Amino acid sequence: MRRALLICVAVLTTAGAARADGDAARGEKRFEECASCHALDRNAESVGPSLYGVIGRRAGALADFRYSPALKRCGITWDQQSIDAFIADPQAAVPGNRMPFAGVADVAARADLIAYLVKTFK
Ligand code: HEC
Repeated sequence: MRRALLICVAVLTTAGAARADGDAARGEKRFEECASCHALDRNAESVGPSLYGVIGRRAGALADFRYSPALKRCGITWDQQSIDAFIADPQAAVPGNRMPFAGVADVAARADLIAYLVKTFK
């Protein structure tokens, strides 16, 4: 487990800066891809945990959601950069997590998604 933690921290610190020029309106459309598993309302868990207020939240923090041990223990506090790294390649960013999602390869698409999350929870 200690090893997994180290990998997780290494990936997040070498992922580089997330782009800060995303378009929130495009991000809202793109979020449809996430919405099959994630609600944005408080306490609305579905297949995945609610993403209500996710920016600034600790990973694995919602009491009502059964997270994987990997996500609970990874020690991330979600910010734009760590969300970018996670949704780019979830298994590389947090090995052993249970988000059944391959990732969003396109850096601009991720920037749009993050702009939408930032705008929603400002
Ligand atoms: C097929 C279902 C599914 C899809 C699609 C999906 N997720 Fe997830 N997501 C999950 C699950 C399940 C978890 C919890 C994983 C765990 O416990 O290891 C999760 C966890 C997360 C977390 C961590 C939340 C926390 O409380 O720590 C974030 C952030 C996240 N997803 C963002 C996204 C975004 C953004 C998208 C769209 C690009 C997306 N997810 C698409 C199922 C999904």
